[in-house]
Amino acid sequence: MGLEFPNPVGVAPGLDKNGDYFEALGDLGFGFVEIGTITPRPQPGNPKPRVFRLTGAQAMINRLGFNNKGVDHLVRRVKRHRFRGVLGINIGKNFDTPIERAADDYLLCLEKVYAYADYVTVNISSPNTENLRDLQGEDQLNQLLDKLSRRRSELADEHDRRVPMALKVAPDLDHESIRSIAQVVSHHRMDAVIATNTTIGRAGVEGMKYADEAGGLSGAPLKPIADKVLADLRTLLPSDIALIGVGGITTGQDAVDKLALGADLVQFYTGMVYRGPELVTECLQAIANHGAA
Ligand SMILES: Cc1cc2nc3c(=O)[nH]c(=O)nc-3n(C[C@H](O)[C@H](O)[C@H](O)COP(=O)(O)O)c2cc1C
Repeated sequence: MGLEFPNPVGVAPGLDKNGDYFEALGDLGFGFVEIGTITPRPQPGNPKPRVFRLTGAQAMINRLGFNNKGVDHLVRRVKRHRFRGVLGINIGKNFDTPIERAADDYLLCLEKVYAYADYVTVNISSPNTENLRDLQGEDQLNQLLDKLSRRRSELADEHDRRVPMALKVAPDLDHESIRSIAQVVSHHRMDAVIATNTTIGRAGVEGMKYADEAGGLSGAPLKPIADKVLADLRTLLPSDIALIGVGGITTGQDAVDKLALGADLVQFYTGMVYRGPELVTECLQAIANHGAA
């Protein structure tokens, strides 16, 4: 991605949707923090309750629906900051923007955050915004990334800085879909792919309290599914496109596994809920030991 990371362990987006706490998160030892998902206009998200803990499985189900204070708020927060790690900004569309006009929302967010982001993530993989994941289809993705990469070139000239762009994908994709995403990503010279968002599947939590709640499942049960997509992408993508592995990291070994499958960086969210900041140290230690072995 052309960036220097203090360490490869990051905060996954959703934990600090508005850019309100990323400096404090950085102080916990993370090498990078990805804030967002942010949308052009503020929106409340879905009615509560909308986040559920499946404690026995170290998992969560959420259907937040991109609740956020809007891109202008986030920009005010990131304009001046003291965070020394890498700051990613994850962008999305408002729930009431028609899917045919989705590109307008992504373009507007890209323009507004461009000057302040170390990298920008295009999130087309949340299960909680209607039809969003359809943007992963070959034709739609091609059109979206075409517009975004053209605009990025113009912004790079204006700002004299090429900000890397990442695409965040869902885990619920078959091999053919992953192959077509890899082709489109390479064609448009994206810098990274982030695998994965939450799953609409319920493997590993069947019969548990809250398992039938609508939303995306994250945490330990997601790991095998996310790992498979990650491994697939590593074989399909050229080596100069970075991979960020996310989904189900709840131990240091889980982080090492993702790096072994070809991830250049890792992130977690649900692990932070169950393990707290100690998981950051554990991941860094496990990665260091693995490197030394
Ligand atoms: C409560 C919650 C909110 C989330 N919000 C976002 C979001 O706004 N944007 C996004 O790209 N991913 C979001 N995610 C997905 C996470 O970034 C991550 O991809 C997923 O949870 C898998 O990682 P984990 O098992 O470590 O949690 C959210 C996850 C959770 C649990």
